[in-house]
Amino acid sequence: MSTAETVLLGQVLSFAGDPFTDGIDTARIEGRGAVALGGGKIIAHGSAQIIRAAYPQAQVVDYGTDLISAGFIDAHVHYPQTAIIASWGKRLIDWLNTYTFPEEARFGDAAYAGKIAQTYVGLALAHGTTSFCSYGTIHPVSVDAIFDAALARGMRAWAGKTCMDRNAPDDLRDSAQSAYDDSAALLGKWHGAGRLSYVITPRFSPTSSPDQLAALGALWQQNPTCLMQTHLSEQSDEIAWVKSLFPKARDYLDTYESHGLLGKGGIYGHAIHLEPREIARLREVDASLVHCPTSNTFIGSGLFDMGLAQTIRTGLATDTGGGSSFSMLRTMAAAYEVAQLRGQSLHPAHLWYLATAGSARALHASDQIGNIAVGMEADLTILNLASTPAIAQATSRAENLWQQLFPTIMLGDDRAIRATYVAGVKTT
Ligand code: GUN
Ligand code: ZN
Repeated sequence: MSTAETVLLGQVLSFAGDPFTDGIDTARIEGRGAVALGGGKIIAHGSAQIIRAAYPQAQVVDYGTDLISAGFIDAHVHYPQTAIIASWGKRLIDWLNTYTFPEEARFGDAAYAGKIAQTYVGLALAHGTTSFCSYGTIHPVSVDAIFDAALARGMRAWAGKTCMDRNAPDDLRDSAQSAYDDSAALLGKWHGAGRLSYVITPRFSPTSSPDQLAALGALWQQNPTCLMQTHLSEQSDEIAWVKSLFPKARDYLDTYESHGLLGKGGIYGHAIHLEPREIARLREVDASLVHCPTSNTFIGSGLFDMGLAQTIRTGLATDTGGGSSFSMLRTMAAAYEVAQLRGQSLHPAHLWYLATAGSARALHASDQIGNIAVGMEADLTILNLASTPAIAQATSRAENLWQQLFPTIMLGDDRAIRATYVAGVKTT
């Protein structure tokens, strides 16, 4: 038995399976539970009494009735859009041109990129997010900045240089060759360093030429341990534009597929307006989807079909800054509301799974993060389930943990985050 340095006491939520396929009873709650941490890992969990007796030397932190959960995993963010979150009044293409591209153009400046990366990572941790998968800008220094910031905090993080060689301003365009070369250099520098992973990142088909898509497809084939992230079928205007740019493609997904950018380890953000062939192919190759509900409502993109989570790896994400919140609690609330509008009912266990183990599965990191289990990395979020007067009064009659938890999902924000642990170390 390893030695525990710390034992945390509280209500412990873990998953013995996937609530979408195995039922909500796979979510386990230990009412007076404990999690023992040592060497940055979870070394035991169970009832408080048993774990305390097993590790009498460990430092005990008693969180009372607070919830102890795996840290949130934000599976699709654009950290360079941190400063333009909640910009008023545009749909996707307009929003990109008006707010996003001018802001992203500033990230050639390493000092500015470093400042925003620090701000983003601080906000993520304050909101209970212990891991994220981010887009950079076209500038390699933007990727250095976010990896430096994550490394300094010991976080497991994914990021990649966003590649665009057309339909973007002059100062935000690379080329097929430079996108390949810069991505390959960043991959060599960062992939597997500490808890960091490089992600090959074509922004989306409208801003990459066929040559660039093919170059990045080749890079992925040469580096199959990397994930590849992009956007797919987010908005109807965008889909029409893709059709006009790729007249021979069978559908949007085919613009990736025909350039070597469809496969296991492919992470497709939004994926709202999918054709039956696209769904069948995504399922067949075991690709991942990422649901970005606050973004999909904020930019007016549409309602993701949660039924897809039954057969396709699905994560949850803020999509900062197209999304309107840094909070995965607020993001779970939006997922709940979007599902309601599609006549789909999500239990709190589904929502919590999406924000933790589901995102980990989408990012192929289920063996490391996203759950409380022996051997997993000790990334944890501790939540006060009565963090505001409005939430406290709503939980006062709760008869079980789910009733206690749901008001925090619907009404909670960073005030609910009592503490965040990264690799066993308390960071907030
Ligand atoms: N599609 C291409 N780029 C983006 C982006 O930055 N945000 C969102 N929401 N969609 C995109
Ligand atoms: Zn995005």
